[in-house]
Amino acid sequence: MESINYLSIRYNKDEKKLEILDQRKLPDIEEWLICDKPEDMITFIKQLSVRGAPLIGVAASMSLYDHVLKNPQLSKEEIIIVSNQLREARPTAVNLMFAIDEMMQLKETNNEKRDYSAEKLGEIAIRIIRNEVDMCDKMSKYGASLIQQNESILTHCNTGSVATVGAGTALGVIREAHKQGKNIHVYVDETRPLLQGGRLTTYELEREGIPYTLICDNMAACLMRDGKIQRVLVGADRIAANGDFANKIGTYSVAILANHHGIPFHCVAPMSTVDIKCSTGKEIPIEERSHTEVQGASGAFGTVRWAPKNSKTFNPAFDVTPMTLVTSLILDTGIITKNDLNKLSE
Ligand code: MRU
Repeated sequence: MESINYLSIRYNKDEKKLEILDQRKLPDIEEWLICDKPEDMITFIKQLSVRGAPLIGVAASMSLYDHVLKNPQLSKEEIIIVSNQLREARPTAVNLMFAIDEMMQLKETNNEKRDYSAEKLGEIAIRIIRNEVDMCDKMSKYGASLIQQNESILTHCNTGSVATVGAGTALGVIREAHKQGKNIHVYVDETRPLLQGGRLTTYELEREGIPYTLICDNMAACLMRDGKIQRVLVGADRIAANGDFANKIGTYSVAILANHHGIPFHCVAPMSTVDIKCSTGKEIPIEERSHTEVQGASGAFGTVRWAPKNSKTFNPAFDVTPMTLVTSLILDTGIITKNDLNKLSE
């Protein structure tokens, strides 16, 4: 295993130190959290210090590797137990399950051949990381080929370098189009309740010098009506075999709005997000989170609650957008539409 250093995760091989950037504190505070053991990583994933579908798969894999490296006496059974705990840290993004399954070599049918040495797990973790970086680059290029000069693009949630290792998915496309000099402007949905758009996408766009305007989630409709948005790009946490996909809560509303206004709506994701075992979006498990996230907000600014303490809330972290509302899925393998969904299972 070599040292790694990304915007959202880093590993120092000499010090055996795994760290993640605490995304709860961004944009104002850049604080790194040390992950000593898998229990730490599970907490970081659950509390969204580390988040974004591709990144949580990478973070969990690195934590498993680091744990085995530090504890060479672990039995195969003990490693399996820890891997299952990591696998279950969040339920919706399938990248997490796929990454852990790859680490545990589940495709290797012969149990005896599965090698859980630190060396082997390190080799697989690095392969997962390199693959994610490569897929980000490919998606970004495919997606950017669709973007016209002077477009204004709406995006929801955060799908950039802090949510992945590499350029990002929807934000990777935006970054590439900007790099190609297409003079784009980005409208950023703030993305209640946890403000991944308002805190993280803005943070990344600032760093990249990409022009943007932050809006509240309920402003997209009138911008679309007024002709201010030419395209919508979002990411995904899991794509079903029929193209339906789960993404941050609010994505479905944006898809309906785009459809109503005749605006192209694309979902950008790597093949590590495609779960053909889910035949439709109805089979995707949706995480429900704490009432406190809806009753108020928290971040580097502190914690505020504006609703009555006992107010009843509903807080699904994701929703499912049906493929009928999607212009195309932009994958690392190419751009696919309703007519060639069979390519999802190839
Ligand atoms: O709850 P989060 O912040 O992990 O949700 C993230 C999203 O919904 C992203 O859009 C998705 O993971 C794609 S990230 C490249």
